Amino acid sequence: MMSKTAGCTVVALVCGSLMHGCDGGGGPLPGIVPTDETAYIGSAACGSCHASVAATFSRHGHSQAPRAVLDGSPQYPADAPGVPAPPAGFDWTDISYVIDAYRHAARFVGLDGFVLTDGTAGTNTQYNLAIAETAQTAGFVPYLPAQATPLPFSFDDFRRRTTGPQTLADNGNRHQENRPGIEGTWAEAGVQCEACHGPGSMHVPNPPAGNISLDADSTSCARCHSNPDDPNVIAAADGLIVGLQQATELTASPHRGFACTICHDPHVSTWADRATAIRNECQACHPERNMALHQGFVYRRGDYVEPVTCVSCHMPFAVGTLAVNDQVLANGRTARFGDTRSHIFWIDPTDDGAARMFSGDGTQVVRDDQGRSAVSSCFVCQRCHNGFGNAFAFPPGEGCAFGSGIHAPQ
Ligand code: HEC
Ligand code: HEC
Ligand code: HEC
Ligand code: HEC
Ligand code: HEC
Ligand code: HEC
Ligand code: HEC
Repeated sequence: MMSKTAGCTVVALVCGSLMHGCDGGGGPLPGIVPTDETAYIGSAACGSCHASVAATFSRHGHSQAPRAVLDGSPQYPADAPGVPAPPAGFDWTDISYVIDAYRHAARFVGLDGFVLTDGTAGTNTQYNLAIAETAQTAGFVPYLPAQATPLPFSFDDFRRRTTGPQTLADNGNRHQENRPGIEGTWAEAGVQCEACHGPGSMHVPNPPAGNISLDADSTSCARCHSNPDDPNVIAAADGLIVGLQQATELTASPHRGFACTICHDPHVSTWADRATAIRNECQACHPERNMALHQGFVYRRGDYVEPVTCVSCHMPFAVGTLAVNDQVLANGRTARFGDTRSHIFWIDPTDDGAARMFSGDGTQVVRDDQGRSAVSSCFVCQRCHNGFGNAFAFPPGEGCAFGSGIHAPQ
């Protein structure tokens, strides 16, 4: 276990089949010379010693955004739905990267590094993945029809999806892989190990010395999961909370001040490995709470089956990372859902319309004088009580102002 160098090759920093030779660490590894504190060595090297972390992590959305198109198609973990084809009229050989093709909705980057839009490609260029919880169906939908000039893959866009991103100004005007549409470079595509732990070049020669950020209070998360324009404003658009703002949402929630990793295992995907992704389920901290009249209920809609949990109601799909899903309900109302669960946790049971949750101009979520927000119960109840599954439909004309007192002693 502690044999220090067995199997470790200097060039690739890969332990290969003698992984355990690296596992326990020990002393400096001869031949690996610390170079530059800021050098990224890549997740393959990390995985050669931290094999179990790497195996779980390979199924996380982080490792998939954006996905390079290699060997004729983007390659996903075996059980991921993936994106079956590029937009109509394109081959995979015309595409360099697929952005976020793991859960919500995908966009495509051409060989020139520009993001395809309907306006430049003349066809639908956003691919929605199926989301069973909201009955979002898979398929191509419009993306920026008015955008007829090439849309760069901007630094603001890729900095939250890559490891070691650099602007053109910082890197001497270099474009990733010389693709002119990409406005800068990255060390590795996707949110890989060093995106959170920092460059690893000083850690690997002497792991016991540390020389790597543990990030124990998960400060890294907010770098990407917050509103870049104003960390105190929960941005909204199109009647939904804007995506990738969980840290901002959290500041308006009862869990403000919580590190993400109180609830999340940072290496485990909530999408692919839900059972092990969450360290503390709601009941662990709220054992006194009942199930709000839904104890033991199971929601069914077609083939979709969901035992109702605290998350079913308190983390509704009020966030639109990219996809917008409008549904006309059995009672004639239209409900809008996003593709991502909210982290506000408080529910406003009194309102009769989702609009009340947003400022008059619709650009942000309303906060009270103590900075708190609440998600409209329209996002919560109408996902199930819509007439399409086994939950009764709210009567015609009735909104979603039903939730008040739903936790009353039972
Ligand atoms: C040569 C094997 C090896 C490689 C390669 C390696 N590590 Fe480690 N790493 C270790 C060992 C061994 C420990 C445990 C040290 C200890 O327990 O004192 C460790 C500890 C850590 C820790 C915990 C640090 C702490 O303060 O507790 C983190 C985080 C980490 N590694 C991340 C990485 C990342 C990220 C990479 C890739 C950039 C990487 N490691 C590459 C062997 C390696
Ligand atoms: C999204 C940010 C993030 C990414 C990406 C990430 N980590 Fe971590 N990692 C953390 C945080 C935060 C901790 C702090 C301890 C905790 O809460 O689990 C941690 C802890 C660790 C530890 C020490 C404790 C443990 O779980 O063994 C190791 C080793 C480690 N990470 C290795 C890796 C490797 C290898 C990769 C890539 C395959 C990686 N990490 C990717 C955030 C991340
Ligand atoms: C470098 C930017 C970056 C950092 C740092 C980062 N994230 Fe993310 N994270 C993203 C992006 C982008 C996505 C969305 C990917 C997609 O939609 O396919 C994402 C998705 C996720 C998901 C959903 C994906 C899944 O498979 O479950 C979780 C959970 C998550 N992040 C938690 C965290 C936590 C916790 C931390 C800190 C420990 C963190 N993130 C740090 C950029 C980042
Ligand atoms: C109080 C617990 C809690 C805290 C704190 C928390 N999360 Fe979560 N988060 C969850 C749970 C539970 C889920 C999984 C919901 C489900 O079952 O799908 C989740 C899911 C997610 C998802 C995937 C949502 C989707 O629908 O795609 C992302 C992204 C995410 N969390 C990011 C974060 C980040 C970043 C932080 C810190 C800023 C954070 N979370 C803090 C409990 C928490
Ligand atoms: C690690 C512990 C922890 C976890 C996990 C946790 N909570 Fe909390 N929660 C708290 C604490 C602490 C408070 C603030 C004190 C209080 O009101 O109980 C709180 C408050 C709340 C409140 C507001 C209570 C009020 O009276 O205003 C709601 C709603 C809530 N949590 C829902 C949830 C849901 C839903 C989950 C699961 C997704 C969850 N919590 C997970 C610890 C936790
Ligand atoms: C059927 C949907 C539903 C389920 C399931 C559900 N809740 Fe609630 N919960 C609500 C609604 C709606 C409110 C707001 C009620 C009100 O203000 O009268 C609420 C209020 C709360 C509050 C108090 C917040 C406040 O504003 O005072 C807490 C804490 C809470 N829920 C935790 C939980 C936990 C923990 C679970 C799982 C054991 C759970 N809830 C399951 C719908 C639900
Ligand atoms: C995950 C799906 C789901 C969500 C979200 C949900 N419900 Fe339900 N609800 C059900 C199912 C399934 C039943 C049982 C079948 C039925 O009675 O229609 C049920 C039953 C009920 C009942 C009858 C309870 C009883 O004792 O028979 C009420 C009242 C109710 N829901 C109100 C609400 C309200 C209000 C909300 C939003 C705060 C809500 N539900 C959110 C699935 C859901």
